[in-house]
Amino acid sequence: MGENRRIVVTSALPYANGDIHIGHLVEYIQTDFWVRFQKMRGNECVYVCADDTHGTPIMIRARKEGITPEELIARSHAEHLRDFTDFQIKFDNYYTTNSPENRELSERIYKAAEAKGYITRRTTPQLYCGHCKMFLPDRFVKGVCPKCGAADQYGDSCDKCGATYGAEELGSPKCTTCGGTPVVKDSEHLYYELEPQHEYLEKWIPGHTTSDVSNKLLEWFREPLRGWCISRDAPYFGFEIPGCKDKYFYVWVDAPVGYIASLKNAGRFEMWNDENVELYHFIGKDIIRFHCLFWPGMLNAAGFKGPTKVFVHGFLTVNGEKMSKSKGTFVSARTYLDNLPPEALRYYYAAKLGGTTDDMDLNLADFVQRVNSDLVGKITNIASRGGQMLQKKLGGMLGTMDDEGRALVRKCIDAGETVAKHYEDRRFNQAVVEICRLADAANEYFDRREPWKTVKSDEEATRTTLTAALNAFRIIAIYLKPVLPAYADKAMKLFGESEWNWESAARTKENCALGEYEYLASRIDPKQVEAMIEAAKVKPGESGEVSHESRASKNKSAAKSAVEAPALKPEIAFGDFEKLDLRVGVVESCETVPKSSKLLKFVLDAGPLGKRTIFSGIRGAYPEPEKLVGREVVFVANLAPRKMSVGVSEGMILYAGEPGTNGGVLSPTAEAGGGTQAT
Ligand code: 2FM
Ligand code: ZN
Repeated sequence: MGENRRIVVTSALPYANGDIHIGHLVEYIQTDFWVRFQKMRGNECVYVCADDTHGTPIMIRARKEGITPEELIARSHAEHLRDFTDFQIKFDNYYTTNSPENRELSERIYKAAEAKGYITRRTTPQLYCGHCKMFLPDRFVKGVCPKCGAADQYGDSCDKCGATYGAEELGSPKCTTCGGTPVVKDSEHLYYELEPQHEYLEKWIPGHTTSDVSNKLLEWFREPLRGWCISRDAPYFGFEIPGCKDKYFYVWVDAPVGYIASLKNAGRFEMWNDENVELYHFIGKDIIRFHCLFWPGMLNAAGFKGPTKVFVHGFLTVNGEKMSKSKGTFVSARTYLDNLPPEALRYYYAAKLGGTTDDMDLNLADFVQRVNSDLVGKITNIASRGGQMLQKKLGGMLGTMDDEGRALVRKCIDAGETVAKHYEDRRFNQAVVEICRLADAANEYFDRREPWKTVKSDEEATRTTLTAALNAFRIIAIYLKPVLPAYADKAMKLFGESEWNWESAARTKENCALGEYEYLASRIDPKQVEAMIEAAKVKPGESGEVSHESRASKNKSAAKSAVEAPALKPEIAFGDFEKLDLRVGVVESCETVPKSSKLLKFVLDAGPLGKRTIFSGIRGAYPEPEKLVGREVVFVANLAPRKMSVGVSEGMILYAGEPGTNGGVLSPTAEAGGGTQAT
């Protein structure tokens, strides 16, 4: 190597309508490894990303929360960036697709295609919800599968038989937002025709991604390429298409353009089309079509350079299965961070990722084992044993290595290009194997020399041993820096240095003082993992989101059970009841909770007890929660405070009945309009 490359790198832009979770992190973490590695090699590498902010789901979600889409995406942006930063993922720019740069570039790329005659108009029948006043995207309508008759299927494909169809073919369609019955209405749409670039793309694809990916894509080239629909009807949160009133760019048009917009916002726009700059997209295998077909077509038609390579990875499974909310394996970045250190996940992902499209399994037992035995027991142990002994017993001074020690360190230095090649080729797992091999050699040397024994009789021989062991550790920590940047920074300080790049590994440290030993990594306790899984479990009544369908079916079953005599909970003793300290409080404020369709946040004035904040899952019963202000309610005052994702709840408000049907809070001073009162 040696020559300085110029590189632009992207990760797929996460949607602004959801939290970052450990599945997303597979991508951002590996991109970060690669970018950090490139920077350490002395290459100019610019890593850009952004929130993907447009589309119907974001608009609907904002509506539900009673905020503007702009407010929603601003909040997500802050949350996402905080999650990434806490996972030590370092972008050179983290922007938003709802930006002036992106609007301008999207229009430019679209107009170029239009000028070439690639944009056509077609009228298609589509489902329209008169109540919501909008055309329904496939995922906003459910009905009976036209092929197999299964109920409750989305508008694009059937979960039961796998058939794909148009939403207007569904039997008994229902709008998932309002439950109303949509009608079929014609709408004119814009299509981006790909057939004119058939030959160009057919040639382009094989050289720009791996053969498994390109072979799959090339299957489509046996027939004329189908155009893709790039317009959406108002109301839509996005960019209006120039010259087409009330038509918006489908989110997948301006999302990839967001890569260029982010680069532009970083002041590095010129890099995109520079022939000497390499351009890489890291993506998951679900979005290959957009990145290896539509996107290179859009870029080519507009005279923009396409990516040098598209790196495709697989999905994450946890304990061999799809992530699951009910099993607690659908873990958000924040829930992970509340329970475990980011280094552990970064290390484990590195140990598992081999640069292929294979899915990657996070086996939780293996995760604990590998972090504890390899990262802590094998690698960190060299520094903690050696560093602490040198500090405590030998005045913290490194000495000179003997031949055996020098051979160990030479071995570590010599492995540098092998490790680098693995990083370059995104075989992070192989890099980790190689690094662990070096750590094994260092531990073997350390154990053979028994410094804990020699320190009593021969201080200088011991110093010689520790000098070699610590030099080996230093090189290992340098090789690990792309994976564990904060860890490597602490290790670097131990050696009194201010910058580590790849070449730093070739130097040795002798006859100098070692810095203060700072804790580098500690073992993880399986209990931390259990706590994380517990916290990630969506418990009944606590899920932030309840869709209309499930609420409707819940109401149906409630009505049914009322007729069939509902099952009671097991009988309790009087003593159990006696434990409850029931008090009356006056509602001082009552409001909805952002992101939650179930919760209301109450502040009660509880007289001598002071103020109490209580979260209660009864929003369905009180569409206008402010009307509860001033009302007296009964609450359990001695319930242990409970930490919820939205805050701490200090008690429980008594409520009888089903939210949204005939229920209500228990209120000693009955008032009309509130529902059932205590009797
Ligand atoms: O699949 C997704 O999550 C999209 N938000 C990715 C967009 S990547 C790029 F094209 F913007
Ligand atoms: Zn509707």
